[in-house]
Amino acid sequence: MSTDSTDDAFPTDRPAVVTCGLPYANGDLHIGHLRGYIGADAFSRALETLGQETAYVSGSDMHGTPVAVNAEKEGVSPEEFALEWHDQYEETLPKFNVDFDNYGHTHDETNTELTQEIVRTLDDEGYIYEKEIQVAYDPDADQYLPDRYVEGTCPYCGAKARGDECDEGCQRHLEPGEVEDPTSTITGNPAEYRERTHKFFEVSEFADYLTEFLDGLEGTSNARNQPRQWIEEGLQDWCLTRDMEWGIDYPNGDNETTEDIVLYVWVDAPVEYIASTKQYADRVGTDEYDWERVWKDDGDIVHVIGRDIIQHHTIFWPAMLEGAGYNKPRAVAATGFITINGKGLSTSRNRAIWAKEYVEEGFHPDLLRYYLTTTGGLQQDVDFSWDAFQERVNGELVGTVGNFWYRSLLFAYRNYEGTPEADVSKEVAERIEGAIGETREAVNDYSLRGIGQAATQLAQFGNEYIQRNEPWKLTDDDPEQAAQVIRDCVQIAKAVGVFLEPIAPDKAQALWEQLGEDGDVADAHLEDALESPPRNFDEPGELFEKIEDDRVAELNEKLAERVAAAGDDESDADEETESDDTESDESAAMADDAATGDLEPLLEDRIGFEDFQELDIRVGRIESAEGIEGADDLAKVEVDIGFETRQVVAGIKQLHDLDELPGEKCILLANMEPAELFGVESNGMILAAGDEADLLTTHDDAVVGEKVQ
Ligand code: MF3
Ligand code: ZN
Repeated sequence: MSTDSTDDAFPTDRPAVVTCGLPYANGDLHIGHLRGYIGADAFSRALETLGQETAYVSGSDMHGTPVAVNAEKEGVSPEEFALEWHDQYEETLPKFNVDFDNYGHTHDETNTELTQEIVRTLDDEGYIYEKEIQVAYDPDADQYLPDRYVEGTCPYCGAKARGDECDEGCQRHLEPGEVEDPTSTITGNPAEYRERTHKFFEVSEFADYLTEFLDGLEGTSNARNQPRQWIEEGLQDWCLTRDMEWGIDYPNGDNETTEDIVLYVWVDAPVEYIASTKQYADRVGTDEYDWERVWKDDGDIVHVIGRDIIQHHTIFWPAMLEGAGYNKPRAVAATGFITINGKGLSTSRNRAIWAKEYVEEGFHPDLLRYYLTTTGGLQQDVDFSWDAFQERVNGELVGTVGNFWYRSLLFAYRNYEGTPEADVSKEVAERIEGAIGETREAVNDYSLRGIGQAATQLAQFGNEYIQRNEPWKLTDDDPEQAAQVIRDCVQIAKAVGVFLEPIAPDKAQALWEQLGEDGDVADAHLEDALESPPRNFDEPGELFEKIEDDRVAELNEKLAERVAAAGDDESDADEETESDDTESDESAAMADDAATGDLEPLLEDRIGFEDFQELDIRVGRIESAEGIEGADDLAKVEVDIGFETRQVVAGIKQLHDLDELPGEKCILLANMEPAELFGVESNGMILAAGDEADLLTTHDDAVVGEKVQ
């Protein structure tokens, strides 16, 4: 998953840029958006703690039908509508400690100029051609029907789809004319077709380039594996223009035109990554941050996105960058979806946690940041429930981190008025160094959860350390030893603050100040965790507060009422599905394997040996593994189990590089009832641990077919 073993690991001596997918400026932000923006923010802060020069940029996505359709509903111009949402996002995101170095929007001058320049270059380089195509048209509305103005059936997987995306099924991008049985979303009429001339980008020319690009791409495995499959199936060229008024004009060299034709929103949106970086550099000066080095030369570009836009970021975007002579992304980290109480997030059903609502409920942003970044890996779907939120806050933040911070600092303050005079013990210094290593590795693995765990596990160690050494018993009998233990604890407390800063920046800063440190913990590097805090500090306060049961009951009730008022009938939940920019009801089906971040409790019920004997578990060897079309997570795997070769369907598509599996030994439950998934028969079950599906294997020379007992 990472290159931390190579010399190219972070921190590099090049500038890095971290981006998050631009929110469409078309409606309220919810927890699905926040996961991405907070995740990318935490990652960029974590890079900085490694000493990596990093900019974190994004902007609002102002164009396209997602904005035009909603503006029309409100009866305002798309520009006015989008600008209003843009202002709201600028105001809301900092409330979650999402700290952009620059947040622009796609309709501003920087982006408009840069987009036109890039398209012009692609044109000059001969990558763009014109073609006549059939475009959906609504005669009653007297309007062409690009993208979200039309709905129909996905030709690849059969799911209900929008004009340009299979948002509820296979997540593929759809070209104009591809959606089957198209109907107009304006009138509900079946669409008619009219011939129009449009501009196309020769993405198909980049197949070899992209294959190589994917081989070197870091991030999450779904961002490499899905596009490989699309390339194998054959790349289509990409229609760059739309019959609309709202958008960036196609940059014609001459005046022969294209009236009412603008660039497709997905052309100018990612260019905002560059435009926003440029705006940042223009503000701080190129000496401080060299945007051209990042984007045109050798900077480290990291895109954090939702998994519904993998194709745009691993096919179209790198092809555009390459074609126009720009640098390529180093990593694409694609997050899973968010479910709420195990069901797909749905804005129309009001089954969502809204950004505004969270703020109004008065919860500290760092609590949600912690929950969203450390529940499951980045790639997994994350289930949110107020109960699970309470459990993690009360258990890990209040119980482990907050408790350790408070008891250490209070003891130190009362007995020594601050940090006792002593050197940190070897044991503790080494433990902190260990956590520095874990954090560095987690960053290079794009594992936000790993970053959080390095911090909380260190706090856990701190609690055990106090418990084991019982300094309160030593103050009289062995004052020197008491001072040593507390000196160690104060150092651990500071280290936990440094390591937790990317995830919980405010809380880490509050601890920093309690320790009497100057400046910002955000400027600290990992090694500063070993630097002594100031000698004196004031009486500390508790930094985390327990969430009470009745509060959770109240929040659950509110959510249930709201969903009921929006007309949710449990029984229809799987049928008619709704989904907007960052969600999919397909995620509801996946809720079962959504990671909870905690270990599953041990089962109370014991089974007899005979029961165990009924399981026919065998050593196998994987012969082949390939993704199942239309299924996000499933792979068809052929396993040799000595007597025969078994075909099984396993939920590992996004979690493993399928190409690397053939030849690997695995453990197979052979007498599993046969089942059929996505039309593929499954005849056994490959055993794997945890939500990353770590495959079980043997460590000696057990032969294929051998029974596991
Ligand atoms: N607005 C798009 C969405 O919500 C994301 C745009 S990301 C970028 O799906 F790459 F275009 F910038
Ligand atoms: Zn589809």
